[in-house]
Amino acid sequence: MSTTILGIESSCDDTSASIIRDGELLSGFIANQEVHEKYGGVVPELASRAHQKNIVPVVDQAIKEANIQKEDISAVAFTRGPGLLGSLLVGVSFAKGFALSLNIPLVEVNHLDAHVLSLFIKEPGKPLLAPPFPFLCLLVSGGHTQIVLVENYLSMKVVGTTIDDAAGEAFDKSAKLMDLPYPGGPYIDKLSEQGNPEKFSFSKPRISDFNYSFSGLKTSFLYFLRDSLRNDSSFIEKNKADLAASLQKSIIDILLDKMDKAANHLGIKHIALAGGVSANRGLRKAFSVYAAQTNRKLFIPELKFTTDNASMIGITGYYKYQQKLFSGQEVAPYARLHSKKS
Ligand code: KG4
Ligand code: ZN
Repeated sequence: MSTTILGIESSCDDTSASIIRDGELLSGFIANQEVHEKYGGVVPELASRAHQKNIVPVVDQAIKEANIQKEDISAVAFTRGPGLLGSLLVGVSFAKGFALSLNIPLVEVNHLDAHVLSLFIKEPGKPLLAPPFPFLCLLVSGGHTQIVLVENYLSMKVVGTTIDDAAGEAFDKSAKLMDLPYPGGPYIDKLSEQGNPEKFSFSKPRISDFNYSFSGLKTSFLYFLRDSLRNDSSFIEKNKADLAASLQKSIIDILLDKMDKAANHLGIKHIALAGGVSANRGLRKAFSVYAAQTNRKLFIPELKFTTDNASMIGITGYYKYQQKLFSGQEVAPYARLHSKKS
């Protein structure tokens, strides 16, 4: 008998639903919330309200596109955390009600594990180039930056993490200083294509082990812009592409340096990228050059699976379902990682 999972993601500002059957994606649907753009960041209260409005149509759409009936669904997988509590609550409550009404199990999913497992989303008719275990994954998103040793689908160890901002925040906050729209990561990516990455240089952190820090880079970028604008009020306008390319290069250099150290230390030959920032073209390119130079193999998720989506929740739910890792109706969302077990 086949296993059909409904995946639900609502941890931040995207409401998403997917249907995974026997490890293969039948449908995936995302409603983005444009309401936050004019505020220059996600407004939690507005995000939660938009999720409430979107969740039913998004799930309906995913079921319709998958060409299945509600009754075909074996379990509901949902993001339990980390994320915005009000946003998570909408997905969690919906999942509970849906599972209860069909008398099927609930599978809670950790959003970060799901980003890593986005590497395993198989699409019909397409070969899946998934990394063999163990592999080292650089998980770079708007909320997190981690080096994860992935031993199995459900066994992951965090080897390094950021001590302040995430890589996505470094992109977004610096983009904001350049007056680019939110989220700024994709704009920096696009501008960088025409810029000179060597034009400007910004300070690099000196952090022990395999950990990251991005707050120093952001401050260095801020001071550099402030001083330059004093001499020329149109400095940003004139140097937009070079600023973007130089900033992007600094972020990539920082990310690559610690991944290299961790991969050497652990003797790992298979490396991977995941999370929203892994959509970045410069990052993808730098890592593929690095992999070729160091005789390593690089694995990257499909672009559409890098930023938040329910397909990654569905695939993680699928692997947890096989181990019968179910949650009860009392399950509550958690905003932060360390409260995962509460
Ligand atoms: O994984 P994600 O959708 O949400 C979180 O779990 O945080 O990641 C969102 C982050 C944002 O910071 C966004 O600017 C960044 O991913 N991002 C990018 C690109 N596309 C998305 N950063 C750099 N270049 C991109 N092309
Ligand atoms: Zn995410």
